[in-house]
Amino acid sequence: MLTLGINYSQMHDSSACIVRDGELLFAVAEERISRLKHDAGFPQLAIRACLDFAKAKASELDEVCFGWPAPGALFRHDLKCYVTGGMRATRANLLNSTRYYASMRHQQGGAKVFARLFGAVKARMRYVDHHLAHAISAYAYSGFDDACVVVMDGRGAWEATSIWRGHDGRLDHVLTIPFPDSVGLFYSEFTEFLGFQPNSDEWKVMGLAPYGQPGLDLRRFIDVETTPYRVRSQTVSSNGLPFAAMTAAFGPQREPESEISSRHKNLAYSVQEACEMAMMNVVKLAVEKTGSRNLCLAGGVALNSKANGKIAASGVIDKIFVQPAASDDGVALGAAMAPYLDKGGRLPNKEMRHAYLGPSFGDEAIESALRTYKIRHNRVSDPAAAAAEFLSGGKILGWFQGRMEFGPRALGSRSILADPRDPEMNAKVNNAVKFREWWRPFAPSFKRDAAAEYLESATDSPFMILTAQVRPEKRAVIPSVTHVDGSARPQTVEKEINPLYWRLIDEFGKRTGVPVIMNTSFNLRGEAIVHTPTDAIRTFFSSGMDALVIGSFVVEKG
Ligand SMILES: [Fe+2]
Repeated sequence: MLTLGINYSQMHDSSACIVRDGELLFAVAEERISRLKHDAGFPQLAIRACLDFAKAKASELDEVCFGWPAPGALFRHDLKCYVTGGMRATRANLLNSTRYYASMRHQQGGAKVFARLFGAVKARMRYVDHHLAHAISAYAYSGFDDACVVVMDGRGAWEATSIWRGHDGRLDHVLTIPFPDSVGLFYSEFTEFLGFQPNSDEWKVMGLAPYGQPGLDLRRFIDVETTPYRVRSQTVSSNGLPFAAMTAAFGPQREPESEISSRHKNLAYSVQEACEMAMMNVVKLAVEKTGSRNLCLAGGVALNSKANGKIAASGVIDKIFVQPAASDDGVALGAAMAPYLDKGGRLPNKEMRHAYLGPSFGDEAIESALRTYKIRHNRVSDPAAAAAEFLSGGKILGWFQGRMEFGPRALGSRSILADPRDPEMNAKVNNAVKFREWWRPFAPSFKRDAAAEYLESATDSPFMILTAQVRPEKRAVIPSVTHVDGSARPQTVEKEINPLYWRLIDEFGKRTGVPVIMNTSFNLRGEAIVHTPTDAIRTFFSSGMDALVIGSFVVEKG
């Protein structure tokens, strides 16, 4: 069976993946190919890339699976919210809901666009409930037979949070908390109030939080004492109106790009703390309801690595798997597996150990690009050793190798790398390369076998989706990847999974005694992570990177 999974909602992060006989072959977000960050358009380039990788024609597909229910479900829930007072029935809101419904209905949720672009196909068009798709994306890739599955996002069609029990390849629905009682909504509205882009910059709030102090009262916005949590959506949501309740409580909304004051830091602290408590509250409920202490997490809220790290270290659960593409790009992975649940069937359940699911470019394509742009380059016999040499000499390095990662993090295929021992490196990379906010921490890549020497927990963490405390005696050893609160967001790298990247870290360790690399995504601020050699070359020359190791080639500046 050949199935295509698609995320298309016109909201954010369109993506596609392809699965053959239960095996995930390939996955890519539309933004990487279109170069439009969080691209919400129909993922036609991603679908084309999936078919090319599988060497299949659209006509050979058996199922085309969207990670959203058929158009109408979301509209009906909106109407219900307007009637019950969950959302304000303003003219603008009603118009938005109606317009969205009309557009998705006209496109048959994307099926009509698919047929126009790829021709008539025999495949069944399947619409998978959004939270079910998220739940499958966590459970079916966890390797856990028995699991409690928690999905938390901004919204699905009607869902905001859901709990499932996974067992024997099946998923039983346990409970759903409907939108707008949504922790994702709570966090994204405060993200916007703090002057950042909602559904995109939540990371910035999380990074800012440790610089603040506790003490702000958020009970008008969220109640984290009750189980499950309650979000006061009428006070939280701007709903097209200015942030009246937030302004009354915390002063005016922050202007984007304006200075960050202690007021903003303290608010970030309290928002993050409330999110962590709400998540913990749901996880405890999920463990109680399902009787399982193996936790699977997905949904945009599960990108909150700080909260995930606290849950992992809490003792409430034994094991945790967070789908690395926890946001809506990942529903493609779940939707594509949904047909396996038909007729009492079971989901294939293979532990996802890496996210190298995207396109790759061989040396021939890379050299052709370098020649086209008349860029002086050298071929090296050992790119890992060459890279380690640059890094130990304090250089900031572009690293472009193998298949691109799926999900928001760069994990050693499309990465900017640097020496984590230099306390100034954070500022250097920020100023020269990322042009991003000073308070956002960079993350470390460890050899997995060396992680326990540096970290108190999360020593098996391949996806940078859990934070852990760096051991106190090691904080000064890797200062540029240790956050102000002593935490780090590690990637542990296994030799068997990514031998080239593992060897780079190993070679760096041989030269410096520290088998840890600072790893951030290969992109400039506000841009999608690089996809092609041309993207990499353009980004390299638009920034303060010193060298680029791309396939078997090295490019140096100056
Ligand atoms: Fe979602």
